[in-house]
Parts: sequence; C-alpha cells; structure tokens
Amino acid sequence: MQELIDQLEERRAKARLGGGQKRIDAQHKKGKLTARERIELLLDDNTFEEWDMFVEHRSVDFGMAEQKIPGDGVVTGYGMINGRLVFVFSQDFTVFGGALSEAHAEKICKVMDQAMKVGAPVIGLNDSGGARIQEGVASLGGYADVFQRNVMASGVVPQISMIMGPCAGGAVYSPAMTDFIFMVKDSSYMFVTGPEVVKTVTHENVTAEELGGAITHTTRSGVADMAFENDVEALMMLRRLYNYLPLNNREKPPVRLGNNGKGDPADRPDFSLDTLVPDNANKPYDMKELILKVVDDGDFFELQPEYAKNIVIGFARMEGQTVGIVANQPLVLAGCLDIKSSIKAARFVRFCDCFNIPVVTFVDVPGFMPGTGQEYGGIIKHGAKLLYAYAECTVPKITVITRKAYGGAYDVMASKHLRGDVNLAWPRAEIAVMGAKGAVEIIFREDKNDPEKLAAREAEYKARFANPYVASARGYIDDVILPHETRKRICRSLVMLRAKKLENPWRKHGNIPL
Ligand code: HXC
Repeated sequence: MQELIDQLEERRAKARLGGGQKRIDAQHKKGKLTARERIELLLDDNTFEEWDMFVEHRSVDFGMAEQKIPGDGVVTGYGMINGRLVFVFSQDFTVFGGALSEAHAEKICKVMDQAMKVGAPVIGLNDSGGARIQEGVASLGGYADVFQRNVMASGVVPQISMIMGPCAGGAVYSPAMTDFIFMVKDSSYMFVTGPEVVKTVTHENVTAEELGGAITHTTRSGVADMAFENDVEALMMLRRLYNYLPLNNREKPPVRLGNNGKGDPADRPDFSLDTLVPDNANKPYDMKELILKVVDDGDFFELQPEYAKNIVIGFARMEGQTVGIVANQPLVLAGCLDIKSSIKAARFVRFCDCFNIPVVTFVDVPGFMPGTGQEYGGIIKHGAKLLYAYAECTVPKITVITRKAYGGAYDVMASKHLRGDVNLAWPRAEIAVMGAKGAVEIIFREDKNDPEKLAAREAEYKARFANPYVASARGYIDDVILPHETRKRICRSLVMLRAKKLENPWRKHGNIPL
C-alpha cells in the first residue's frame, strides 16, 4: 500500500508543479500568481476539491505526444467562498501558455455542467495564450463547447470572469458572455485581434495595454467591470462581490447584517440628505452621497465606476438584503441618459432580475442626451434596452425621484408605468415632459420675441409642473417623502415586497433591441 501512496503523492506533486519551477518563477517575475496560488487566495482555507488533476491532452502532432503535463493547463474543481459553494477553473500559463486544448476545454465543461446540476456559480480565472495551436480545430471545438455552456448557464447560475493574463482572439467570447469581468492592471489584456494584426490591417500602432488592457476596458469599451492593481486585490474583491450574489436563479441572495450581526437600523434618519439637492436646479450634486447614506453601513460595491459615469450601478444591502442600485449621476453630463449609460444600466437591471435581487433606482435625469453623435450611434435602440430591461423586470422595484424626471427618461427610469412597485419622490422633484424653458419656447412660440412674456410663461409652467404633485395626483408617485427618511421608506417597501410574485407571459424569449 505504501508504494501506491507514494506513487499517488509523486503524481500529485508533478501535477502541482505544472510547467515546472522555471516557468513558475517567470510567472512570479511578471507579478502574476500561479493558477493554484490564485485558487488558494480565492477560496476559503482548505476547501478546494480538485478534479481532473491527471487529465492529459491527446494530441500527437508537432511532437506533442512527448510533451504531456498532468492537468493540461487548467486547474478545476470546487470549494467555498465564505462558506458558500462555488465552482472554479484557473488556467495555468506555465503549461503551454495556458492554451486551450480539447482536454483542457473538457475539464472546464465538466465543472460548468456540475455547477448547473447543483445550482452554484462558476468563476473562471483566465490566463491563456488562446487556442492550443498544435491542436487546430479540436481546440476551436473546445471553445465552442464552453461558449454553449456559458449561454445555457446565463441567468441560471452567476458566472464571473477574472482576466489575469492574456485573453485573445475568439477566447474573449467566453468571458464576454459571463455576468461580470474583472481585470488586473498591466498584466492582463483582452482583444479580438492583437497589436500586430491591427498594425497590418488598419496601420494603427498600439500596444497590447492600450488596445485591450484593464484601463481600456474599464474606461473606454465598458467590456470589463473593474480593474485592480494586482492579483491579490482582484481576488479579494471577487470574494466581496460573491457575498452579494445568490447561488442560482431559484435562490435568494444571502442576508448579511453588518455591525457584528446587529445590522444598521432600518429607521436610521440622515438629516444631511434634506440639503443634498441644491436650491438651484441647474447645480449638480453627488448622487453617490445619497447612496452611501441610505444603504447599510455606507457600504456600496460599485460596478463599472469609471465607465459611463452619468449612471451609477452596483450592489448594496438594506437590512442585510442584497439590492441592486441604479442611479443617475447629476455630476456627469447632468445625469442625462446616453448610449453607454443605457447599456450599462440595462445589463445590470437584467442581472438583478435573473437573480432575484430587488432594484432600487434613484432618479435625477433631465432626459436623453441630444446630438448627432447619439442619434447616429443609435440612442433610440440603445435607450430602448434600458426601457425594455426595466419593463420586463419582475423583482421588487423601488424608485425614488430626487429631482428631475423629464420626458422619456422619466418613463424609462423604473416609473410606475413600467410596473414600479413603490415610486417615491422628494419634495424638490420635477416630473414633466420637459424643462420649463424648452416647454414654453415650443408652446408659446408666438411670444418668442417678448422675453418678459416668455419669462412669465416659464414661471407659470414651473409653478404648475416642476413639482411632484401633478404625478402624485394621478397615483404615478405613491408618496412624497422627506429626504432624511429615504432609508426607512425603502426598507419598509422591501419588507412589504418580500413575497412579491409577478410573472411575464410565456414565450420562448423576448426580443430585446440588441
Ligand atoms: C500553444 C502556446 C500558445 C498557444 C503560448 N504558448 N501560446 N502554446 N498554443 N496558443 C506557449 C509558448 O510556446 C511558450 O511555450 C509558452 O506558452 C509561453 O509563451 P511565451 O510566448 O513564451 O510567453 P509570452 O512572451 O508571455 O507571450 C504570451 C502570448 C504569446 C502573448 C500569449 O505566447 C502568444 O502570442 N501566443 C499565441 C497567441 C495566439 O495567437 N493564440 C491563438 C489565438 S486564436 P514554452 O514551452 O516556451 O514555455 C484563438 C482562437 C480562439 O485563440 C477561437 C475561439 C473561437
């Protein structure tokens, strides 16, 4: 027996060494951790159960028959994050540059299939040179097998991708179909075609970092949600994100009370909110201040903080319960909705809807962004995404209008008409078709050369419409509340909505404007 034990230990040790100490050292030199070190940091201590440690590729071309490394470039299995189950695959760059072979893909598919059977999220730690060149089409097939599973798992179990090295070519499409993408600055990149091909085809000179680094994707393209300084920070933040999410679409997210389990009191007032909105309606203020003051313990996990900053999205808790926050940001573009912000918020609302997370929306929106750039870019179609997302959403929806809610944007931002469950407004709210100036210029065109008359009309329009009471009189707003009691009112609404049941009519799937 001892001989067998020794043999197993020897095999295990060989597998754990991946591509060998030299390549591990090279990985460390780049400031990157190895596939196994990353799993160790991501999961709770001693919870990782590894599968398929001894899987090898089946390739014989280009001398591959003599180059077999147990595990074949990806470490897979399951474990716990803060005591909750998660499946994980972590590509090992020390083995053929983490390139994906047929066998490597089969290992990923195996954990994805199991995650679907038991209803647990999948986290992929990506660090790969792409398709295993020596395997050709078998590798492409392997990618497609993973893609198909990404799509089937979408909306069933949360899927999170961490890009911790190269991720190029068609390989980018697996992370692209997952719910969240985190990247590590300076050591990770994602692009469909690399700098060399770009140079040949479009004659642009661009570095890998500029083309597809973490900063590019979190500020310009919006492909990734967050960028981190190094592997350790990224993995720690991933653990934090995980705490907000349910295991699957049939479960509720975990309830976590801060303050040593005592929680933040639901009726905690914040009187500073009464003066948050400036007297001058054209003056901006920071919507994040409101979010931080309303949610549990001032703890807000913002997603895509550097992209489309005119809308803020992220997770927080109210009485321990996860909520998704969507909020116009008056500090940027006056909080207007444009193409990027519509897409950003739409995808987030749909995630929350898939996974039983109530959506709390804070509204201060002067309308959709005007201009040829927006119209030619398809703001009609992209703005419709957010409208569609809110309209199909069946989880509890609570909306607080803090100031402006004008035009189509009023309708879009989780209005009562889109089945908002609780729609509240602060006393300063202005809910109307458009701002007073624009409105009188259109309906009193005959007075356009008489500034005095126009000013009087504007004042009249403002007095009549720039308030929350016209909408309240129709029941579009359930109540006008004092800003300092916002937290209490949202908490009570969430309790009332705990058993909400709402189903959309049966259909194969809707046809969201893509
Ligand atoms: C097989 C690969 C590989 C690959 C890297 N290696 N990429 N082996 N298939 N795709 C191996 C290298 O031979 C090397 O082996 C080791 O991994 C490390 O690679 P280096 O080049 O030394 O590392 P580095 O300088 O850090 O460069 C990393 C890299 C580069 C930028 C990823 O290796 C590279 O450009 N690789 C090719 C990328 C590529 O074209 N992939 C196919 C894309 S198309 P040794 O033995 O020396 O350690 C694609 C299609 C997917 O992926 C389609 C899905 C639909």
